[in-house]
Amino acid sequence: MSGDGVFTGAVTVIGGGTMGQGIATATLTAGLPTTVVDVDTAALERTRATIARRVERVSASEAARVLAGLTLSAELESAVSEADAVIEAVPEIVDLKLDIFRRLAQAASATALLVSNTSTISISRLAAACGGSVRVIGMHFFNPVHKMRLVEIVTAKTSSESTLRDALDLASTLGKDPIVVRDVPGFVTSRLGLLLGTEAMHMVEEGVAPAGDIDKAMRLGYGHPMGPLELADLVGLDVRLNNLRSMCQRSDLPQYQAPKILEQLVESGKLGKKTGSGFYQYDADGRIIAPERRP
Ligand code: NAI
Repeated sequence: MSGDGVFTGAVTVIGGGTMGQGIATATLTAGLPTTVVDVDTAALERTRATIARRVERVSASEAARVLAGLTLSAELESAVSEADAVIEAVPEIVDLKLDIFRRLAQAASATALLVSNTSTISISRLAAACGGSVRVIGMHFFNPVHKMRLVEIVTAKTSSESTLRDALDLASTLGKDPIVVRDVPGFVTSRLGLLLGTEAMHMVEEGVAPAGDIDKAMRLGYGHPMGPLELADLVGLDVRLNNLRSMCQRSDLPQYQAPKILEQLVESGKLGKKTGSGFYQYDADGRIIAPERRP
């Protein structure tokens, strides 16, 4: 399945949302046959359309090659039984992920690499739900996955050395540049990134500056490619809210409490770029068209 920095074998991605689509684009482009599982058949259709759109930009023959490797499925158990790696990318809800890993313990091969793309949930807890499997590990990809080089590999207490090696091989096969971190709340990137985003949202609430200026400050003053509010809109405000709630469940750090403005935007269905409105408003091509939301 792996060795010399190369991962070969079939991949099953669970969840065909923002991240599942991106992860599947990366695995298919790397030549790994990939099945995407989702309970929502519309999400499966969107997965095929998104991958096709991305790879058609390269060439028609590349698109045909990549899409030939894609299988879509609504049934988890049959979709994981032959997989050499399973990558879970369902919403950041702990009970949902625990249930998926319980099912993987029954349905996946004992040798399959079992990966979670969680941003905040304990990998050791997911491994425990999977019968303490040594094959469970975190691989936290970044959005958009086919463009972002970082993957944060999170080792559970039970992850074996060969599991870590396989995860590193998979990362390198996908052209990613990994870091390996211990399983602490938020790992490295969510622990830092959530705080920055949360502080930016509090500043919008307090009227310190409009969202556009807060983002501009971090772009021009700190050299960030994107401001924290644009990034929250890109990630999805519902995803961001779930991440903060999950951090609060894992730790008693008050700085991870969700800001009111975030709860209000999510309640009103303004989930960021994917719904056309969040801290900014977007046109059909995802470009910012309206001034940012003010408190
Ligand atoms: P999303 O909401 O866009 O997609 C989740 C998908 O999972 C949906 O299509 C949903 O129908 C499907 N799903 C729900 N229950 C399922 C089940 N039982 N079986 C199969 N599919 C099921 O969420 P997104 O943004 O892709 O996030 C997924 C995970 O990736 C979360 O853990 C999140 O924290 C993490 N993540 C998200 C990032 C982002 O920028 N959005 C970045 C890095 C990690």
